[in-house]
Amino acid sequence: MKRPHEDMSDHTMSHRPTAETAAPNDAIFPATSMPDPDWWRALWPDPDAVVQALGVGAGMRVLDLACGDGYFTAALARCVGRGQVLGLDLNAELLAAAEAACAGLPCQWHQADAMAIDRLGLGSFDVVLMANTFHGVPDKGALSRAVAAVLAPAGRFVIVNWYPAPREETPVLGKPRGPRADLRLSPEATAEIVRSAALEPHCLVPLPPYHYGLALRKPSALDTDTA
Ligand SMILES: C[S@@+](CC[C@H](N)C(=O)[O-])C[C@H]1O[C@@H](n2cnc3c(N)ncnc32)[C@H](O)[C@@H]1O
Repeated sequence: MKRPHEDMSDHTMSHRPTAETAAPNDAIFPATSMPDPDWWRALWPDPDAVVQALGVGAGMRVLDLACGDGYFTAALARCVGRGQVLGLDLNAELLAAAEAACAGLPCQWHQADAMAIDRLGLGSFDVVLMANTFHGVPDKGALSRAVAAVLAPAGRFVIVNWYPAPREETPVLGKPRGPRADLRLSPEATAEIVRSAALEPHCLVPLPPYHYGLALRKPSALDTDTA
């Protein structure tokens, strides 16, 4: 299922689903199926502005963890310029859609379980983005520790979550949307979970109407020197 590390210096890593790379169902995070494009695009009309608000910038190396069909991956790739973006997802069909959506952009692809990212030899990242998926991760502490292991010093784990609310209060195109209310985490609860990975809250970005982005920062040697 897991593909061996491929040279990140390549402009584009091609990904094609095969029988060997079929996703095992027991690894899929609950309540994380990819939303239909119609309401997803209505809810997120400007993904480029979102990733810029989250602090992604030119030259960065970014991992889009659970990238789905690449809606935010494409925005990340437009934002990093000569940097690099790696889209990772468990679902081969979504990865193929992401690759098509990001044609011509500096993206690479990897099919794997997000829980294994610290064992894939992917190198280190300035930003790891997990959008609209963290709520469904059964062992959020373990995932956060795996993310921390692949962050560069002073790198950031950026989590985009739905604010706590009943689904009926977060409609898009006239229908209740988003995960069940009991799965939604406040920024404070999210920060507390991620603190177990020694990642410190860095900034909170409101993403109206229903989301926030929370950036958690990995300490650098410089922090220790100046403490
Ligand atoms: C709700 S979608 C979000 C996609 C994208 N981040 C976005 O915001 O548009 C959640 C994604 O998580 C992926 N996923 C679920 N379990 C996973 C796992 N264990 N490892 C990697 N990806 C997983 C699904 O395949 C799906 O693409």
